[in-house]
Amino acid sequence: MTVRTILTQENPLLRRKAVKVTRFSKAVRQLVDDMFETLDAAGGVGLAAPQIGVLQRVFVVGLPAEYDDDGNEISPQEDYVLINPEIIFKQGEEELVEGCLSIPGYQGLVRRATSVVIKGQDEYGRPVRYSGEGLLAQAFQHELDHLDGVLYIDHLDSQNKFWAVEQASEEDAEDSAD
Ligand code: NI
Repeated sequence: MTVRTILTQENPLLRRKAVKVTRFSKAVRQLVDDMFETLDAAGGVGLAAPQIGVLQRVFVVGLPAEYDDDGNEISPQEDYVLINPEIIFKQGEEELVEGCLSIPGYQGLVRRATSVVIKGQDEYGRPVRYSGEGLLAQAFQHELDHLDGVLYIDHLDSQNKFWAVEQASEEDAEDSAD
């Protein structure tokens, strides 16, 4: 497995439409493995193949584990692989804070369906179908957009809904360590 470089916003590959996977070879499994490793290293929720320069209709989502107040794991991380995905049902709408590994240091407010049903194939070509709500639904919609060359910033209805994320400077970190 290899951690791949994540392309950023200015790279024109992120604006291309990805093509369907027709042959479920070992190379597809390798790609999926690399994508999970890249996602874990970057600390994100989802990653689409075009973000590592592969113009194929593949994305992965790693829904983070949940913990209670005492730090005990309530639910483990859930991994999803979607190849040739298609959203077949959408319900509700809400405005959510969103970020993207290809647009580091920023967040925005985007309207998304509250729940979706998505179908596609796994890395062996077997049909899969998932329903998601909340963060999972948001991730499915965000990652599917990447396969069509769409970034979340395309959905912003006002520049006020896009901001830089404040990051503690090293000086601040030193201060608070005193
Ligand atoms: Ni993204």
